[in-house]
Amino acid sequence: MSAKQLPAFTSFIEDLRAIWSRETDTQKRMEAGRDRLAVLVSDPSLQEHSRNWPSTEGRKNLLLHTDEEFGFIVNAVVRVPGRSGSVHDHADAWTAYGLCDGAEYLERYDRLDDGSRSDYAEITKTSTTLGTPGTVDLVPPFAIHAEQGGTGRSAAVILRSQLLVGRVLQGNYDPDKRTRREQSGPEQIPFALSV
Ligand SMILES: [Fe+2]
Repeated sequence: MSAKQLPAFTSFIEDLRAIWSRETDTQKRMEAGRDRLAVLVSDPSLQEHSRNWPSTEGRKNLLLHTDEEFGFIVNAVVRVPGRSGSVHDHADAWTAYGLCDGAEYLERYDRLDDGSRSDYAEITKTSTTLGTPGTVDLVPPFAIHAEQGGTGRSAAVILRSQLLVGRVLQGNYDPDKRTRREQSGPEQIPFALSV
């Protein structure tokens, strides 16, 4: 018999499935999903559990849930202190990024060129905000951003409208060289939130 799943996570998935069955629009689903994710990442049992999750450095994601019926997925990431994050977008996927432990800086960028050249991008940083446990950031398709580490370890739960690996590429930007290159999404490491 498999171990029991963390109850707060079980009810999170049940509520997401209810949202996906009642809403058909991806943006509306993800806005409601963001609000529900904020409840999850504020839950002390989830925050406590996340302190034992393994590091995902090296372009990995923990895969907590794949929804076979509705297609959304739930990932987690664990960052090392002071991590330098890449500037990237998530192609046509919506992403809700919810911090559950530690702190991270979220940087937003605007694109200045017209996007007509596939390998060229002029971007400028428009804001930097500090996220703490309970903070959720909703990232629309093609929004350019970076997550930078704080002084300690950090952990986050990510709700994605669709799986990034394989099917969907993401864009990686070098602000100094003014380049954009496409790459596949992070490696998916199946991980159960057992109690
Ligand atoms: Fe991201």
